[in-house]
Amino acid sequence: MQYTIHIKRQASSSSEPYWQDLSIECDESTSVAGVLRRLNSRADLTDINEQTVDKIAWECGCMVRKCGACAMRINGIPRLACSTFLGSLKEKKLILEPLSKFPLVKDLIVDRSAIFKKLEQVSIWLEDNPFMSEQTKVQRYKSASCILCGCCLEVCPNFTADNDFSGAIAAVNAYRILDEEQNIAHKNELSEKYKKNYYEQCGKSLACHDICPIGLPVEELIVRSNAAAVWKR
Ligand code: FES
Repeated sequence: MQYTIHIKRQASSSSEPYWQDLSIECDESTSVAGVLRRLNSRADLTDINEQTVDKIAWECGCMVRKCGACAMRINGIPRLACSTFLGSLKEKKLILEPLSKFPLVKDLIVDRSAIFKKLEQVSIWLEDNPFMSEQTKVQRYKSASCILCGCCLEVCPNFTADNDFSGAIAAVNAYRILDEEQNIAHKNELSEKYKKNYYEQCGKSLACHDICPIGLPVEELIVRSNAAAVWKR
């Protein structure tokens, strides 16, 4: 099947973005990451006007939904290139853009270091040996499964890389620490920062609902973190 790739290109954060169209013959089982790999493996990458163009800058680490590096906007929705297959698209056109909430590096690569700064800002780490309750095992596992791709932050109307709102990613990751931490002073510190940097700034749009590319129950984990940090349950 013939697909048209409409891709946003930008050589650096200081250069002007532009759109480019490329074409590729692929079957429906090919992932977006597979498309990008095949395009870049061409000795001479040309656009639909047969003009030679630069190779496409994009990132991937695992190719199996584990590292989050391949997150990008695919037909307007933040998704993982390695696990979005052409057969799941409504049209034979692929529109690829970088995530818009993070500083652009090049083409489809963005600087997602803000994610780690936000987790640090809320003190999301353990200071003591974890208390592991059988009752919350499944939810803690889900909390720990977050791949930090940034898709939930991309759709959030409140999140920017440089404000002090930590976003749903903090709520998702905070839950297991709030549940496991035995150091009371650190748990209180985390709770206070969570309240200030997440709970009091969340607009409750729930745009992050159902957007997680690995299917984490973001809404449930937010509710659990709110209960643990704010309502002390
Ligand atoms: S390449 Fe690791 S999540 Fe896609």
